Amino acid sequence: MMNRILKQAIFLSIAVTAISCGDKTKRQLQYMPDMYQALPHETYSENELYENGQSAQKPVAGTISRGDVPYEYPNTNEGYEAAKKEFKSPLTAYTLNSKKGEALYGIYCVVCHGKKGDGQGPLVKNEKFLGIPNYKDRDITEGSIYHVLMYGRNLMGSHSGQLTIEERWQVINHVQKLRNDLLK
Ligand code: HEC
Repeated sequence: MMNRILKQAIFLSIAVTAISCGDKTKRQLQYMPDMYQALPHETYSENELYENGQSAQKPVAGTISRGDVPYEYPNTNEGYEAAKKEFKSPLTAYTLNSKKGEALYGIYCVVCHGKKGDGQGPLVKNEKFLGIPNYKDRDITEGSIYHVLMYGRNLMGSHSGQLTIEERWQVINHVQKLRNDLLK
């Protein structure tokens, strides 16, 4: 037992000596070189396999990021009208979550649109922001609301950066509920 430890210690000290003592102006012996110089190509390194010699490449034309769903309606009046008519929520009775929709509405919309959707949010009451419509005065559908969340509309900015696709549909459901209550 003792013998083995002793042997290992001797081996280690020889190895360390071999690595550490040497001409420091010359290239040193690398112990386990694969740890210093990875065999696979590093991300963003030079790489002769590519035409421009770089491993960082633009995505292939026509591809989309994982989890992303492209929105096909253009940011035009025609796009708005088309979305209004035919773009439908993928949520079902099982995936709809009215609590979540209400909470998200509270975070992102209430300041302007008000808790009831009547256009009387705190910013409007404090006269910091004007021209917010009452939902009941707008002829809107789930598709048109999605379009507006995607691109914004006049003074209202896009919310596509704050809300995931699923969250948008949850909020939209809440807006429709508020609108129905306002129309009663
Ligand atoms: C900074 C204030 C502000 C915030 C925050 C805001 N909106 Fe708006 N919103 C507006 C204004 C202003 C308009 C009127 C735009 C127009 O038609 O000129 C509007 C219009 C709308 C309309 C009617 C659009 C149409 O087609 O007529 C909907 C629906 C709507 N907002 C939903 C939302 C939802 C949902 C949120 C939260 C995710 C939200 N808004 C957040 C200011 C805001």
